[in-house]
Order: sequence, then structure tokens, then C-alpha cells
Amino acid sequence: MQELLEELHQRYLPLREGKLADYIPELAKANPDHFGISLVTAEGQVYQAGDFERKFTIQSISKPFVYGIALEDYGREEVLRRVGVEPTGDPFNSITLDEKSKRPFNPMVNAGAIATSNLIRGTGPADRLNRLMQVFSTYVGHDISADMSVFLSERSTGHRNRAMAHLMLNFQMIGSNVEEILDLYFQQCSLLVTSTDLASMAATLANGGVNPATERRALANEYVRDLLSVMFTCGLYDFSGEWAYRVGLPAKSGVGGGMLAVAPGKLGIGIYSPLLDERGTSVRAIQVCQELSSRLGLHLFDVPFTL
Ligand code: DON
Repeated sequence: MQELLEELHQRYLPLREGKLADYIPELAKANPDHFGISLVTAEGQVYQAGDFERKFTIQSISKPFVYGIALEDYGREEVLRRVGVEPTGDPFNSITLDEKSKRPFNPMVNAGAIATSNLIRGTGPADRLNRLMQVFSTYVGHDISADMSVFLSERSTGHRNRAMAHLMLNFQMIGSNVEEILDLYFQQCSLLVTSTDLASMAATLANGGVNPATERRALANEYVRDLLSVMFTCGLYDFSGEWAYRVGLPAKSGVGGGMLAVAPGKLGIGIYSPLLDERGTSVRAIQVCQELSSRLGLHLFDVPFTL
């Protein structure tokens, strides 16, 4: 496994396609050469290659995990009333709500993620942020911190997300504390992780919600399948169908350059490479996930051939 990760790192390091995210000004400062690949098994075995210690902001990869907190805090039916589970076929930042229900289509697009950030219980903004950070710490297995510059950079330029939040306020899908809800959303996006942290988070989901290294539960078992289902159908936005076809694993991308993929019952993959394609997905991460899925036979619908 270690050799395989090193081989993939060597093979895809020269791939220079894609560009850095620049719509959040701070993200444009990333180094395009940085490239980390990590894999953590459901038993807690860790394999890592390249820049696996390099920290970057988690961005949209936070969305499924915050969805998990919302499910624990409000239950499946109440969350479903506020956020759907239908793929959009649209980019992550599209300004659309379901015509009839006025819900965002799913918790993976920005609109849905802002709605789920509103569904974390707490006595106030600090209490809600603490709850969120505690859960993320359990997933990664150590304390987690945020990148203040990225948070402030997105907060001062995130007018599209602000517009989306106001549209949802108009339909009473979120409360009037719009700036507070957006702050929490921007804060969750600016949490700092490494590729190995992402692999640990994915391995925790692969292991039914329990971090295999610390044996601490990050998510109630009954909600693991909800997370994995929406990641499978919506995690890569308007690339989710082709991703399911090619890779066959629930996965989530982020414009910070991170990507995670879950092979249920088996392992978690975490990758960092900040050069993105036009959909905001890491170019090297797509290649590596595709290779790992085919070389390790991870596609969920790969049925072993028997006579
Ligand atoms: O809301 C935003 O635009 C960012 N904080 C997160 C976007 C993101 O990571 C999209 N995923 N590929």
C-alpha cells in the first residue's frame, strides 16, 4: 500500500493542469506543487506519501460532516424538511432552491450547507462553533484550528453566499441571524486539515462513525448512511454522476484543494493538491482516486466474478 501511494505521488506530481482558487483571495496563495496522499484503513492503519503534513482549509469537505451534526441535533425528518437530498446537476454555488418546497436541493451545495449550518444546536455562536469544532476534532483524532485569514477573506468577499442566505431568509428557511449563520459556515470552511486528517475522517465514516485510531464515536451509527448517500449522489456537484460511474465511492471535494473518499467497511482516502478544474475539484485528486479505486477494486458496484 505504501509503495502504491508513493508510485501515484511520483506519477501525478508532474501533472500541472488546473488552477488555484482565486475567488476567495487568500486561497490564491497556495503552492501548486504541494501534493499529499493519505489512506487510513477502517482498522486504523495509516499510509501517507508526499506533503501529507501540509495544512490547508477544508472548505466544502466540511459540508457532509456538518450535515451529520444537523441530523444528530434535529433528526432525519426535520432536517429533510429544511434541506433536500436531490442532486442539482449544477455547480456548488448555484442560486437555486426547490420551486415547491423552497428548500435547497441538498446539503452539499452552498445553499444547503448554509441551511445545515443553521441546524447546529447551541446557546449562541460560540457554543455552536465549539460543538462543531469538537465533532471535527473527534473525526481527525486531535485538536483542530481555523485559518483566520481565509475566514476573513471569504467573509468579506462571499456576497454570493450572502445573497443565497437572504433568499432563504425570504422563504423563512433560515432565521434572521443571517450574518451569524454565514459566519459559522465560513468558519467551518476555514478549518485546517492535512490529507491524513481527511483520510482519518473518511476512515471514521468507513468504520461506522467511530474513529479507528482513538475509538471515539464522531457520529451516531444510524446517520452514517445518510452522509454517505448524499456524498455519493451530490458530493461532486455537477460531476457526481460521472464520478459515481468512474470511481464508485462517496466523496467530497473542496476548493482548498482537498478531497476525501470513503470505501465503506474498508478505508478512507484523503488527498491534497490545490490545482483545481473548472468545477472546483482538485485535478490530481480525481486521478489518484480513480487509480486507487481501480487498483484496489473499491468501486461499490464491482462485484467479484465467481462461477
Ligand atoms: O462557499 C464557498 O464558496 C467556499 N467556502 C467553499 C466552496 C467549495 O469548497 C466548493 N467545493 N468544491
